Amino acid sequence: MIEVENLTKHYGPRRAINNLTFQIAQGEVVGFLGPNGAGKSTTMNILSCILPASSGTARIQGHDTFEHSLEIRKIIGYLPETPPLYQDMSVLDYLMFAAHVRGVTAKGSKSAVERVIEKCSLKDVDHRIIGRLSKGYQQRVGLAQAMVHDPDILILDEPTIGLDPIQIIEIRKLIQELAASHTIILSSHILPEITQLCQRVIIINEGEIAAVDSLHGLTASLRKSERLSLTVRKGGEEVGEKLKSLKQVLAVLPGEENQFMVECELNTNLQDELARLALENQWGLVEIKPISMTLEDVFLKLTIEEKDVKV
Ligand SMILES: Nc1ncnc2c1ncn2[C@@H]1O[C@H](COP(=O)(O)OP(=O)(O)OP(=O)(O)O)[C@@H](O)[C@H]1O
Ligand SMILES: [Mg+2]
Repeated sequence: MIEVENLTKHYGPRRAINNLTFQIAQGEVVGFLGPNGAGKSTTMNILSCILPASSGTARIQGHDTFEHSLEIRKIIGYLPETPPLYQDMSVLDYLMFAAHVRGVTAKGSKSAVERVIEKCSLKDVDHRIIGRLSKGYQQRVGLAQAMVHDPDILILDEPTIGLDPIQIIEIRKLIQELAASHTIILSSHILPEITQLCQRVIIINEGEIAAVDSLHGLTASLRKSERLSLTVRKGGEEVGEKLKSLKQVLAVLPGEENQFMVECELNTNLQDELARLALENQWGLVEIKPISMTLEDVFLKLTIEEKDVKV
């Protein structure tokens, strides 16, 4: 269980985070979202005992991040924004070292290191010098050091940044596997990644919490209208005009060829009406489908003060 209460951090006169309060239950996978400079890394650094907060508290499984940092370091694995690597060491030596400082016994180190080398697909480079590896491989070594002591909680700051598409898929798969038995907080700017991996999302903007909810909850609470996509064989202005004349329809936006995005009031069950219109007017109905709100829509709505962003 992670409990954050009124957490605030100032860097000199600059306030990076302000009064953050949230909880994360055991076993949850939570996505941390926010634009550049929102305060994600600052919060993660405080949770990982790298930085002290200016005020407020953060507790991990009952231990205070300021008072009991050694206890917390045993139960968390942290992949910071810039992986903490020794550029002159080989991958194997570095991971053995990481296991040692994380308190893995001398006897257990070898198998612990073999396990993370396998999980992070590092076998081919395990004797190479870290500084000469590509960025993506260095990122994998960073992930491996976060997991070497088999912690219950993983805090991952943009874990897939710099990886090639195949590795991104593999690391996401790995995170999904780990999710079955770990509590995970991960930040990412790749919104579909958060949608795929996380049950709950914390969105922060300019150091303050903009939303804490499940993806479904976020979408439902922000949604004031519904969208349907209608595709017909015979498009044209007449179709748009007829759709606009329906009383439940708020707006009709053109989509791809012969496709119309129909925005309507909530719970109007407009599908039947659209089908009837299409048949009566012989438009040649191809498809009617609801368009769901994406995390990207939610994110933009919560972080950009543009009143005309329609969701
Ligand atoms: N060491 C520091 N000294 C001074 N200001 C800092 C320091 N670290 C971060 N900041 C400031 O604190 C704010 C939050 O930064 P932080 O790195 O936590 O944001 P972030 O959400 O992780 O952004 P990004 O998506 O770019 O990684 C920013 O305004 C940043 O300039
Ligand atoms: Mg960051």
